[in-house]
Amino acid sequence: LVAFFQPKILRGKRILVTAGPTFEAIDPVRGITNHSSGKMGFAIARAAQEAGAEVTLIAGPVHLPTPRGVARIDVESARQMHAAVMPLARDSDVFVATAAVADWRPAQMNEHKIKKDGKKVAPTFELTENEDILADVARLSPRPYCVGFAAESENLLKHARDKLQRKNVPLIVGNLGPATFGRDDNALVLVDADGDRALPQADKLTLARQLVQEIARRIAA
Ligand code: CTP
Ligand code: CA
Repeated sequence: LVAFFQPKILRGKRILVTAGPTFEAIDPVRGITNHSSGKMGFAIARAAQEAGAEVTLIAGPVHLPTPRGVARIDVESARQMHAAVMPLARDSDVFVATAAVADWRPAQMNEHKIKKDGKKVAPTFELTENEDILADVARLSPRPYCVGFAAESENLLKHARDKLQRKNVPLIVGNLGPATFGRDDNALVLVDADGDRALPQADKLTLARQLVQEIARRIAA
């Protein structure tokens, strides 16, 4: 019922959201990933849908149900996420990048499982950098209103402000990193050209609804 009575402040807007971790394969049975649960991104997708938006959610490997009325595309790697996002980003009004995208992937994917047998030393892996999805969307012209996330374990405001510049986006949402992964609540700080605004500790859906209001206000301005 609460969902039904959310003001339809994003009616007619197309919102694209990335969520969850990515998984970068080393061989057919192993890979590199992280502890992102996808909860914050799924909550934002839900809150945007409640606010009347047409929402597409690009999800890395997570164990979460699809919010009602949201179109979901599942991907595994950062490259797949990039390939899914770019064509849709051109037609979106807002892009919210909550995904914890792996910064690097193994330079080679082994076709077969790497076996212990016969090896005297442990294998080493060369890594190569993944494309920055948010920065690439922010380079489109015209571009959607871009919202980045910064999960940091220290110096939250400084890092969030650096990312605002480096990725050339109008809004970065900071949160104190690994501590919030998988939890149902969080605390956010919104960083933009005008300064910072804290959204104090609350459950992720409450924060997502507040963030959606902030985004709606900014794109209307
Ligand atoms: N992001 C992305 N594609 C990447 C890396 C990050 O879209 N390859 C997005 C994230 O979804 C997030 C924002 O960029 O919205 C910031 O991600 P973060 O990992 O904090 O920034 P990085 O630039 O990767 O810097 P670092 O990991 O060194 O802090
Ligand atoms: Ca990163």
